[in-house]
Amino acid sequence: MKSTFTTLILFAEVFVVTGLTAQPALKQAFKDDFLIGAALNESQFCESNAVEVGIVKAQFNSISPENVLKWERIHPQPGRYDFSLTDKYVDFGRRNHMFVIGHNLVWHAQTPDWVFQDAKGNPVTREILLRRMHDHIFSVVGRYKGLIQGWDVVNEALADDGTLRESPWKKIIGEDYLIKAFEFAHEADPKAELYYNDYCLENEPKRAGAISLVKKLQAAGVHLAGIGVQSHINLDWPSLAQEADTITAFGGMGLKVMITELDVDVLPKADFNQGADISRRVAEQAALNPYANGLPEARQQALAQRYADLFAVFVKHSDIVQRVTFWGVTDGDSWLNDWPVAGRTSYPLLFDRAGKPKPAFMKVLETVNSKKAEKKLAASNF
Ligand code: GLA
Repeated sequence: MKSTFTTLILFAEVFVVTGLTAQPALKQAFKDDFLIGAALNESQFCESNAVEVGIVKAQFNSISPENVLKWERIHPQPGRYDFSLTDKYVDFGRRNHMFVIGHNLVWHAQTPDWVFQDAKGNPVTREILLRRMHDHIFSVVGRYKGLIQGWDVVNEALADDGTLRESPWKKIIGEDYLIKAFEFAHEADPKAELYYNDYCLENEPKRAGAISLVKKLQAAGVHLAGIGVQSHINLDWPSLAQEADTITAFGGMGLKVMITELDVDVLPKADFNQGADISRRVAEQAALNPYANGLPEARQQALAQRYADLFAVFVKHSDIVQRVTFWGVTDGDSWLNDWPVAGRTSYPLLFDRAGKPKPAFMKVLETVNSKKAEKKLAASNF
């Protein structure tokens, strides 16, 4: 009985996967424009979720690690590194000929407190923290030298107003902690591409802050190849003009732009000022979780149009945009089901919970094809 059941499940999975490989592939559609990637979790790069592995192999030519390369996971205690999962992540990418991203080396979040403290819990000195940063970067980047091709070296160093965030890195080391991080990463693997990665760069004050940060990094001579524009966005923000301006602003500084964490939130915005109310049970907050039983058609179409419009901008600027990476593979594995409110049903990606391509997937491909046809026509008229 059990084996019949298992066979049926396997058959169903193989069927879906086979069906998917018959779908057009994003990586094929954008092969002349940019790399197309997804952030993976363990069940994908350890190949235990057959449906999602099928999607990843068929659709993407770049991968990012959703969590396994973050400091708290790879270096949880002083002197103790855990490379068991990261080795598998890197191996999956190499076996499948993908552009493998390292995310990330220096960040204020998902970094254990011990990194910034001495044995008594007091802040360490600048020298000690620089030494810890150096050792972490050399151990991690060094292990994957020549295997991980691009690194988010520093993540989210800016506050919303564009000033440098008052993180423990800045407070203890000083503003030059970014320069040091880039120098260490370049020394550890001179051939790897190095990026600065952040969110909300589409907003004017934060973008201005990023531009002045880039100027300082460039003046210091660090090897900054590009900017990661995270792109955790929604149906209304940012405008397409903001998106295009962001890409061209960094492109004008000689940098590549990577769209690194793309997802489009369709759920109502949770009010951060509610404080404790945010953590109330979802059942009490039905208004914040309106599509628990499915996304209404009109909303589905709005999402499809939003994605198509965004990709039209990315393709238009494909001389600057080097990679577009989704933060997750299917709606079911997106972090947005649990943030900023736990237990919601979110629909931010191109594949649904069963791994089927959504209307947004087809709309993106249609738009790209018609843009390319227009371009060809324009070229043939001259
Ligand atoms: C940030 C980080 C990512 C991830 C997302 C949300 O954007 O860069 O690593 O944690 O938040 O999951």
